[in-house]
Amino acid sequence: MSKLLDANIGLIYGTDTNNTEQVGERISHELEGHGCSVTMLNVIETSVEVLNSFDFLIMGIPTWDFGGIQEDWEDFEVELLSAELGDKQVALFGLGDQFGYGDYFVDAMGWLYKHVTSIGAKVIGHWPTEGYEFEASLAANSEKSHFVGLAIDEDQQFDLTDGRIAKWVKQLMLEYTAV
Ligand SMILES: Cc1cc2nc3c(=O)[nH]c(=O)nc-3n(C[C@H](O)[C@H](O)[C@H](O)COP(=O)(O)O)c2cc1C
Repeated sequence: MSKLLDANIGLIYGTDTNNTEQVGERISHELEGHGCSVTMLNVIETSVEVLNSFDFLIMGIPTWDFGGIQEDWEDFEVELLSAELGDKQVALFGLGDQFGYGDYFVDAMGWLYKHVTSIGAKVIGHWPTEGYEFEASLAANSEKSHFVGLAIDEDQQFDLTDGRIAKWVKQLMLEYTAV
C-alpha cells in the first residue's frame, strides 16, 4: 500500500486564467480516487507555516509572457525560500503552450524546481518529454528526455490531460516514500 495514503498532502497552485487551478482539481480528484486526502490552496492564500505543515507538497505553476513566472508565485518567492523542505518530497506540475511558446515551454516549472531543490526538497514525479513538441524548456533536463514534473498543455493537447494525470498520480503513489 502506498505511503501517500497516510500523508497530509498539500497542493499549492498559482494561476492567471484558472487552467492551473482546474488541473490541480483534477490531480486532487485522481489522488482522492486512490484514497488519499488533499488540501488544495491558491498560493495567494498560503504561508510558509502552512507549507511546513504538510508531509507532501504538490506545486503547480503556469508560464506566462515568454518564460515568465506566474505573478503570485513570484510574489511568494522569498517566503518559499524560507520553507522547511529539507526532509520533504515535492512534486511539480507546470502548464504551458508548446506550439505558441515552444522556446519557453513550461519554463516556470524549472524556476520552481530550482527554488525547492535549493532548500533541500527532493523532487519526485519527473516526467518524460515524449509526446511533446518544443524547442527549449527550462523545465527539461540537459538531454531533453524528462521534465522536472508533469507538463500539461491545455492549449494544444487538452485531450491528453486526463491520461497524463492518471499516469502521473500512479507514478507518485509508487515513488513517494515516507520519511
Ligand atoms: C500572453 C501569453 C503568454 C504565454 N507565455 C507562455 C510561455 O512563455 N511559455 C509557455 O509554456 N506557455 C505560455 N503561455 C501559455 C499559458 O501558460 C497557458 O495558457 C496556461 O494554461 C495558463 O495557465 P493559467 O490559466 O493557470 O494561468 C502563454 C499564454 C499567453 C496568453
